[in-house]
Amino acid sequence: MTTGTTKATKRLHVITWGCQMNVYDSARMQDVLAPLGYAAADGPEGADMVILNTCHIRDKAAEKVFSELGRLRALKDAKAAAGGRMILAVAGCVAQAEGAEIVARAPYVDVVLGPQTYHRLPEMVARASRAAGAVIETEFPAEDKFDFLPDQSAAPGPTAFLTVQEGCDKFCSFCVVPYTRGAEQSRPLGAVLAEARRLVAAGAREITLLGQNVNAWHGAPGGLAELIKQLAGINGLARIRYTTSHPRDMDDALIAAHGDVPQLMPFLHLPVQSGSDRVLAAMNRRHTAADYLRLVERLRAARPDLALSSDFIVGHPGETAADFAATLDLVRAVGFAQAYSFKYSPRPGTPAAAAPSQVAEAEKDARLQALQALLRAQQGAFNADCVGRTVDVLFTGPGRHPGQIAGRSPWLQPVHAAAPATLIGRIAPVKIVAANPNSLSATLVHEEHLPA
Ligand code: 5AD
Ligand code: SF4
Repeated sequence: MTTGTTKATKRLHVITWGCQMNVYDSARMQDVLAPLGYAAADGPEGADMVILNTCHIRDKAAEKVFSELGRLRALKDAKAAAGGRMILAVAGCVAQAEGAEIVARAPYVDVVLGPQTYHRLPEMVARASRAAGAVIETEFPAEDKFDFLPDQSAAPGPTAFLTVQEGCDKFCSFCVVPYTRGAEQSRPLGAVLAEARRLVAAGAREITLLGQNVNAWHGAPGGLAELIKQLAGINGLARIRYTTSHPRDMDDALIAAHGDVPQLMPFLHLPVQSGSDRVLAAMNRRHTAADYLRLVERLRAARPDLALSSDFIVGHPGETAADFAATLDLVRAVGFAQAYSFKYSPRPGTPAAAAPSQVAEAEKDARLQALQALLRAQQGAFNADCVGRTVDVLFTGPGRHPGQIAGRSPWLQPVHAAAPATLIGRIAPVKIVAANPNSLSATLVHEEHLPA
């Protein structure tokens, strides 16, 4: 299906919260609406359609959505007063979780759609345009949306995301994902390879495979390791990454692939959540701290320069000071290159939300600060360790200062260098000259790449 011939007559603005999969989904919603004449608008002012692509994972997600909707209502009213119509849609995981509640609280919303129904968006928009009242689609349809979505239309740039797996069957005690994204589903090998080839032909040098449980991908025998090997055969695809993984699904073949496939970058986001076996059991993680440490050891044996990233939750119900100390111990034992850490946030409908022994907010704050100080120190040490080394950087765009361009190291660190814009989209060796808390500064290694 192509969309290039459709005349753009309407303006669409998408606001995206949350994970990389939502970023990918927002692009796909724009693709599916392009044949109806919708083209991207920079802002919501005067737009013919605004989509809020929402995230429900933490915090008061629904409240954020309602306050944004309140602001958009004024723009919708202004458009109506001028004789036009703004269609307001709420998509993503808050839409899936709250469904009709959204329309009950914000009756001016026209469309509410869950993540598995994006391919039906044109029909929903048509229905919303024809009649008053909201269109709500939050069931999990029998058909696979990927069979109905058009090919990605926008040029991906040097780095691209590709969703290969969605949903989760793990049911960690704290997490809404199994309820909002549904059961684990994998896209078939052929479909993924075809999309990857299109992305590379359009200029992508790096592809990040996305899935809530990406290493549980089972779209072909051999699992994710097989998919990675097949992707490595695509000419021009220099870098492969995948996120997010569950420790239980790191199989032998995938560990071996880290050693065998040079295109697979030496950086792995592998959430552990806690270092206490008691808390890990309460979280229903189905692995222990020792299991995780063993896994890290095996991964580093396969790929000695592998850097690790993780997710942590502090203050899960029942977490004691001793449990939290065990988390700090695990962090010290692994040494993370970077990590995300969060205060436990009760999500309605999840088992942990109803558990007794909720941890006091002040205690969660104190633990989060202690954990983040340790993680920051580890990240700083990892970055400092890079100074003086020569590393390959995939340049992706302009830098912060004139004459600079920016890109990513193999370990996903942002790198800035004084270099010509002609290097954007290419990989070049640079010498790291300084480490900042969240990025690296570098100089080009080869004279011919230096600016004139
Ligand atoms: N509270 C805090 N953090 C959470 N996460 C998921 N659910 C919650 C919650 N209820 C974190 C986990 C997960 C990351 C994406 O978000 O660490 O790995
Ligand atoms: Fe949520 Fe656990 Fe599934 Fe990750 S593995 S999406 S944390 S339920």
